[in-house]
Amino acid sequence: MNEMITIAEASADAMSEMQIDPTLDLEAEIARLKKEKNAIILAHYYQDGEIQDLADFVGDSLDLSRKAAETDADVIVFCGVRFMAEVAKILSPNKTVLLPDSKAGCSLEDSCQPEPFRKFRAEHPDHVSITYINCSAEVKAASDIIVTSSNAAEIIDQIPADKPILWAPDRHLGAYLAKKTGRDMTLWNGSCIVHEQFSERELIRLQTQNPDAKVAAHPECHEGILKHADHIGSTRAILEYVINGPDQKYLIATEPHIIHQMEKSAPHKEFIPVPGADGSCACNNCPFMELNTLEKLYLCLVNNGPQIVMPEDLRVAAVAPLERMLEMSKHIPVKKDDAA
Ligand code: 13P
Ligand code: SF4
Repeated sequence: MNEMITIAEASADAMSEMQIDPTLDLEAEIARLKKEKNAIILAHYYQDGEIQDLADFVGDSLDLSRKAAETDADVIVFCGVRFMAEVAKILSPNKTVLLPDSKAGCSLEDSCQPEPFRKFRAEHPDHVSITYINCSAEVKAASDIIVTSSNAAEIIDQIPADKPILWAPDRHLGAYLAKKTGRDMTLWNGSCIVHEQFSERELIRLQTQNPDAKVAAHPECHEGILKHADHIGSTRAILEYVINGPDQKYLIATEPHIIHQMEKSAPHKEFIPVPGADGSCACNNCPFMELNTLEKLYLCLVNNGPQIVMPEDLRVAAVAPLERMLEMSKHIPVKKDDAA
């Protein structure tokens, strides 16, 4: 968690899940509390399937930011990780934003602490600072423009060609974008512990066993995976690719909980998760996303916490680069609520 701001209040974390009456119908209770509090549940594709199924809206980071900015609910329950819930609070400051587990962080956020990041910026005063949304509110506040994996290339293309770019925190996504856009980019040395683990050897083995399969990969993967991919994109783009594509079999190189949506939308197709180096897939679950459970989702609605709180001066500083992102990606179609 980043230095001076800690965003979530952990009181509800202390409540043991054991305190929940085991005979309670959790889904029904969550639905009742949601109505009572005029709450909306937003979930990322990397959440457990049962949480995705309960959510009012499931999306990638850009879709979730847009939804958080426009909702008229009083309470946003964010089933994702802390930086995502912070974005919801930054864009919707008058709403209560709940995160089922306040320890649901992100290795990319951890790899880019505010003080060294400010130093990195100071060392490159002529660069425009474009930062991946997977970072703390403080790092956002020190950036020029925030991007997600679904709008990064389009936003970079809007920056004057002679302007050098300072990129943080994901070095793999940064290297992919530098190659794709042909831009001069100086990269921060961060990575996602989930996407870094995918094994090129295991992917090649799967391709040999399944010559008819297409490979879909998230750009947080390293080059050893990306060079074999038929499609590279954000979680929503990967979903659209496998659901709408003519092929029947896909090798999936991103967090495997997304396969839940794939199987719901295209039950006749086959989706094979790409494993990590030891050949097992469990290591490719995001340990941060997994902290949110149905029980904690219920408890956060009961307790009205953990809640995202942040000083107003920080929020105001962080909202500017986020609004720039929303403005510069207005042309990217909005995900429909009923689409995958
Ligand atoms: P997207 O859903 O925007 O592709 O991002 C993936 C991710 O890193 C979530 O942690
Ligand atoms: Fe962070 Fe990676 Fe988990 Fe996404 S999958 S929340 S980038 S650690």
